[in-house]
Amino acid sequence: MSHENRNTSDLKSDKVKDYSKYFDFSDAKLISQEDGKSTYRIKGRNIQINAAPSYRDEKQRGKEDVQVLYDFAIPDDMQEFGQGKYYLIATYGCQMNEHDTEVMRGLFEQMGYRSTEDKHVADVILLNTCAIRENAEDKVFGELGHLKALKAEKPDLVLGVCGCMSQEEAVVNRIMQKHPFVDIIFGTHNIHRLPVLLKDAYFNKEMVVEVWSKEGDIIENLPKKREGIRAWVNIMYGCDKFCTYCIVPYTRGKERSRRPQDVLAEVRELARQGFQEITLLGQNVNAYGKDFEDIAYTFGDLMDDIRKIDVPRIRFTTSHPRDFDDHLIEVLGKGGNLVEHIHLPVQAGNTEVLKRMSRKYSREQYLELVRKIKAAVPNAVLTTDIIVGFPGETAEQFEDTLSLYDEVGFDFAFTFIYSPREGTPAADMEDNVSMEEKKHRLYRLNELVNKHSKLSNERLLNTVVEVLVEGESRTNADVLAGRTRSNKLIHFTGDKSLVGKMVNVQVTHAQTWILKGEIVAQPIQLSI
Ligand code: 5AD
Ligand code: SF4
Repeated sequence: MSHENRNTSDLKSDKVKDYSKYFDFSDAKLISQEDGKSTYRIKGRNIQINAAPSYRDEKQRGKEDVQVLYDFAIPDDMQEFGQGKYYLIATYGCQMNEHDTEVMRGLFEQMGYRSTEDKHVADVILLNTCAIRENAEDKVFGELGHLKALKAEKPDLVLGVCGCMSQEEAVVNRIMQKHPFVDIIFGTHNIHRLPVLLKDAYFNKEMVVEVWSKEGDIIENLPKKREGIRAWVNIMYGCDKFCTYCIVPYTRGKERSRRPQDVLAEVRELARQGFQEITLLGQNVNAYGKDFEDIAYTFGDLMDDIRKIDVPRIRFTTSHPRDFDDHLIEVLGKGGNLVEHIHLPVQAGNTEVLKRMSRKYSREQYLELVRKIKAAVPNAVLTTDIIVGFPGETAEQFEDTLSLYDEVGFDFAFTFIYSPREGTPAADMEDNVSMEEKKHRLYRLNELVNKHSKLSNERLLNTVVEVLVEGESRTNADVLAGRTRSNKLIHFTGDKSLVGKMVNVQVTHAQTWILKGEIVAQPIQLSI
């Protein structure tokens, strides 16, 4: 495809492909092939495939350029389409998915749809899915089971599956075979095609599958419907790290950074709208800018520019230790609105395991990075992600994870049992660690995580912390809930009018998961 004069309405592929290479079409009948679309009859339903995921294509990192486009518009015939109709999006997984949901909400609302939380009221239900571990996928298939009954009651309901699971050949195959009542399947690279796909599904009454295997262009002017006081801003898409256990490089495509002027303009606009906290998002934010050919501008440069924008708190997630450079550390040391909380996934504490995970740093290099961060960023709070039971992880190697955890003294960790993902290199590695042993390792690690969380909270006792008030506590309307700069949850008594504001709170109780405190007028001894 020529890259000249491309626009957002282009289909990524105009060639008809042979989908029987990816899918089990043994009892499917090919009905027609035209305009790059193939229609099959499977299990009594017509399925129109515009494009389908291919593991092989997703693995490749081609040279083709990524264009930045500013020409998105809802097609004329879809602009009023949602009048009087309701949409519901169920979001699974990470903040990137949450943010994609904001884009889809924006698209729905531009078409005139209104939002609902009630499945029985919704005219369209989308499941924005996560593929990172098997249990995330199980949840979605479970939900599809429930929705089958609803669809039987309400045949006009449009049911869609999007997000990372749609990028998997095996998942699309399974939906076509076992859940033929689904109406639309689209992926992470063609979210902007939602209005067109909706139209096809409504009028043709066929299942429409359009999943691009290769990343699309960056489309800057997609609508986003944000709510609350905290906003997410995507600074880059995709991941080129290919950690051996991880499916993300396949489902999210190659690394593409948004242009600095576009990111800065968006952050300035959010500041103007009064957002109190902005989280910069990317699968590996530290690789930001590496793909620019015309300018030398890194994540450190971006943070240094964003620091000057008048937003009380700036966060970022997620970091890869390998790309965390000295310039970024120096910029983070300037503090101000750059919060001192750094999420730095380590995954394992043993160099041999890290090597097999293809993390490209050793235990010692990670510890050295932590030392540098702690030296440069006063009161740095570190959190992490850890996988236990990676194929072949020995008992001693697991002990190294525990000792690293103690040595760093993380405030919190997300901990996971390794889950094999089809198509990733680790899925083919011999795994001689029993599930029982993996569960035992997770239990031991979680005990340590809890111990450190409690200790780190206890260190805050009697200090005064700056809190962004998020709302009423879930269990007691007289109690407000907020977050410290280091993202710790804190409860305190206060008036509802404080929601969305910054207050100073003196910590009076410290538990493993939560702090409690009392509002004070003036900072006594400011802490994090
Ligand atoms: N199994 C278990 N955990 C995984 N993660 C990523 N892939 C897998 C997998 N196959 C974890 C990593 C990552 C976090 C988002 O999810 O710890 O940092
Ligand atoms: Fe997955 Fe590794 Fe990329 Fe993170 S850096 S998204 S763990 S491949």
